[in-house]
Amino acid sequence: MTPPALSTRGFHHITMVSTDAPRTLAFYRELLGIPLAKKTVNFDDPGAYHLYFGDDGGRPGTLLTFFEWPRTRRGRWEVGGVHHLALGVATPEAQLKWKRRLTDAGVPVSGPMDRGYFKSIYFADPDGQILEIATRGPGYAIDEPAGALGRELVVPPSERLPRGRDEAGIAAATHPEPVPVVTADMRLEGIHHITGITDDLARADAFYQEALGLRVVKKTYNQDDAKTLHWFWADYDGEKVGPHSALTLFAWPDSNHYARPGAGQTHHVAFRAKDDEEQAAWREHLLYLGVDVSPVMERNYFRSIYFRAPDGLLLEIATDGPGFAVDEPAESLGSALKLPQWLEARRSGIEGSLVPLP
Ligand SMILES: [Fe+2]
Ligand SMILES: [Fe+2]
Repeated sequence: MTPPALSTRGFHHITMVSTDAPRTLAFYRELLGIPLAKKTVNFDDPGAYHLYFGDDGGRPGTLLTFFEWPRTRRGRWEVGGVHHLALGVATPEAQLKWKRRLTDAGVPVSGPMDRGYFKSIYFADPDGQILEIATRGPGYAIDEPAGALGRELVVPPSERLPRGRDEAGIAAATHPEPVPVVTADMRLEGIHHITGITDDLARADAFYQEALGLRVVKKTYNQDDAKTLHWFWADYDGEKVGPHSALTLFAWPDSNHYARPGAGQTHHVAFRAKDDEEQAAWREHLLYLGVDVSPVMERNYFRSIYFRAPDGLLLEIATDGPGFAVDEPAESLGSALKLPQWLEARRSGIEGSLVPLP
């Protein structure tokens, strides 16, 4: 394989589909405690909200964005789709606080599962998007040297597989007290990993390595379905795995069950380019690889190019800048409806068609 010309530092954002912006705002901002970084509209469809949630003024890697499409039908995750989005948390203790906070709010939670590399709890947002909260560690070096990740196929030990688990103990584990506020130790740390489904692992591997410069950091099996291969790619320099960069895929070879976009599904996944120059180099690189890539699109807070992974997942490369403080003060991000200059003339019509958000 030819060495990649470019490598991404990881995810910029993930964009999902909501049918109800006020409900999505209540779930992600009030329940999960993730600040709203921007309240705007879909630039390609200005009658619909586009909400951006994220930390530190909308730092790449922490950004979760939603198109609001009230009348869209429920989608489904299968080949070419995202199965779930994992958000990071510092410790297993904080993870149990999340389990208690979510279950007390009426959100069913499963786990914590010991995945070896991290511990995981699972739940869904109000539209059905599967979410995970995963602990920061212990990391990928528990069963391979940190300097040689992803070289060998790792078979998970039986106690991490369904028949070896203490299911009753897992179900009963929770924080002993109610958790009415999101405390500092519980802060969600942005995208921990994104897991999708491919029908051709070798083709996906070649694509993510060549097109995006990601590297394999783990070859293992799905611990809920031990016949399914599960590979992890990330920004890995041979020593360290970069934060907010792990893409993982379940392999369903020869499956003809394809993902259907829609409510409760991921619309696309965006990776980072440092600046316009790097993005332009990336566009050339993708064209050279024969990937059909869009022209550069102005997204006000960043610039974007779009293309598809071989199994159909829509991908984007977005620039780190200029960022979310370009059209409102950094202290009050997300408080006013912001429109790009070319839509300002239509503001009253656009505002009239949107349900106001708190
Ligand atoms: Fe996961
Ligand atoms: Fe995007």
